[in-house]
Amino acid sequence: MLPENTLLRLVCLLFTAVTLAFAATNSTNTTADTFDILKAPVITKPGCPSQCGDLTVPYPFGIGLSSGCGIGEWFELNCSHAFDPPRAYIYDTNIQAFEISDNQMRISIVIARRCYDTTGADVLRNKASSNMSGTPYSYSELNKFFVIGCDDLALVFGDGSRDFTSGCITLCSSAEDIIGGYCSGIGCCQTSLPKGLQSYTAVLSSLNNHTNVSSFDPCSYAFVGEEARFDFRGASDMSDPNFSQRVKSTVRIVVDWAVGNLTCAGAQNSEDYACKANSECVDSDTGLGGYRCKCKDGYERNPYLDPGCTDINECADPNLHNCAKLCINAPGNFTCSCPHGEYGDGTIGGKGCIAYNSQFPITKVALGN
Ligand SMILES: *[C@@H]1O[C@H](CO)[C@@H](O)[C@H](O)[C@H]1NC(C)=O
Ligand SMILES: *[C@@H]1O[C@H](CO)[C@@H](O)[C@H](O)[C@H]1NC(C)=O
Ligand SMILES: *[C@@H]1O[C@H](CO)[C@@H](O)[C@H](O)[C@H]1NC(C)=O
Ligand SMILES: *[C@@H]1O[C@H](CO)[C@@H](O)[C@H](O)[C@H]1NC(C)=O
Ligand SMILES: *[C@@H]1O[C@H](CO)[C@@H](O)[C@H](O)[C@H]1NC(C)=O
Ligand SMILES: *[C@@H]1O[C@H](CO)[C@@H](O)[C@H](O)[C@H]1NC(C)=O
Ligand SMILES: *[C@@H]1O[C@H](CO)[C@@H](O)[C@H](O)[C@H]1NC(C)=O
Ligand SMILES: *[C@@H]1O[C@H](CO)[C@@H](O)[C@H](O)[C@H]1NC(C)=O
Ligand SMILES: *[C@@H]1O[C@H](CO)[C@@H](O)[C@H](O)[C@H]1NC(C)=O
Repeated sequence: MLPENTLLRLVCLLFTAVTLAFAATNSTNTTADTFDILKAPVITKPGCPSQCGDLTVPYPFGIGLSSGCGIGEWFELNCSHAFDPPRAYIYDTNIQAFEISDNQMRISIVIARRCYDTTGADVLRNKASSNMSGTPYSYSELNKFFVIGCDDLALVFGDGSRDFTSGCITLCSSAEDIIGGYCSGIGCCQTSLPKGLQSYTAVLSSLNNHTNVSSFDPCSYAFVGEEARFDFRGASDMSDPNFSQRVKSTVRIVVDWAVGNLTCAGAQNSEDYACKANSECVDSDTGLGGYRCKCKDGYERNPYLDPGCTDINECADPNLHNCAKLCINAPGNFTCSCPHGEYGDGTIGGKGCIAYNSQFPITKVALGN
């Protein structure tokens, strides 16, 4: 139970600070990564490298600033060999790129941190902010805003295209109360971000400057990161001087990306329309405009590169067809068939193939006499 004055102070904070939106956190998993753009012997423009350290870079992304290897400056990565292995940074920023898929990219996170001494004085105070306005990137719904601490209130403000303010509170009175394993509201709270957000600032504040919890929780942290990759370990995280380092090396921010700022309908008539043969255009669902290209069903490869997507030969891979005997590949699909002298739909799990003569054994006997 919280003492009455703490509750009062809490209520005051809630009403005097900005309106807090406490989002119910139910992750909708609609944007699972797909990796068509990596499926081809050649995934870059001619003469462009495909690898920066551990990162594979498929077109429309490219390695080298002003190299022409990417579809635009924000798709070009600065591959720095000052590190081993080399690191890829987006354009001229210090944002590191880690993984590129058909609709998303994973980038480095920034962590807000605030530490107090036993008297409640601030000894360290870093805020975290990020601004991707004017770029093809926006924060994915796979991220959450996380706050770690036992006497903490943190707000996250959006700027620019999304007028957004949210935040959460985490309170606990002893290390024993903290539940590790998931972000439950005790020692760790989390809230959602709206789709299409391109910029945010996170600010940490405290109810009692950690004076009541300083024995086990000198610091608090706030960051935006991929929900599925953050592992809250409970009280041990509170006293871990390496907590920020661990989170920075394991948790990424997922960003959605799109080409241009036009919809498919608008882009299809423009001369720099990016989708090549046998591909489809998909409008970005962030509300910011832009589109992506996707191979038609039954086709694969990088839809942004000539010659476009090519037919998948389903017959060559037993996992891709369900034919019992004969498989005939066709553009975009395949058909099953039966050898001469047999009939049926030719599918495993369907009618399969049945020999004509095995159908009439009794008739045969009758005729034979
Ligand atoms: C999350 O949403 C799904 C689908 O809308 C629903 O079935 C599920 O019960 C929800 N989970 C929680 C924890 O609210
Ligand atoms: C989303 O769904 C995919 C496939 O169903 C799964 O592999 C992935 O872990 C899910 N991600 C989240 C954040 O739930
Ligand atoms: C590329 O990255 C390196 C290492 O971070 C940096 O020193 C350099 O200035 C960057 N180049 C540009 C053009 O931003
Ligand atoms: C974010 O960047 C854009 C474009 O560079 C700029 O116009 C805007 O003022 C920046 N926003 C903040 C909050 O810094
Ligand atoms: C917390 O610290 C701030 C400034 O350091 C001070 O103004 C405030 O009174 C302190 N609050 C508590 C509850 O100690
Ligand atoms: C926390 O500390 C403040 C003053 O520093 C005190 O008034 C309050 O009762 C304490 N709260 C708890 C839960 O111990
Ligand atoms: C801190 O964490 C990083 C990443 O997990 C690890 O590489 C490093 O060795 C750790 N440092 C200490 C002092 O534990
Ligand atoms: C859309 O992109 C074009 C070309 O990059 C640019 O000139 C234009 O200002 C952009 N429009 C908006 C609304 O951002
Ligand atoms: C294969 O694709 C063609 C052309 O799109 C279509 O007419 C045909 O019905 C498809 N066949 C099957 C078995 O899906």
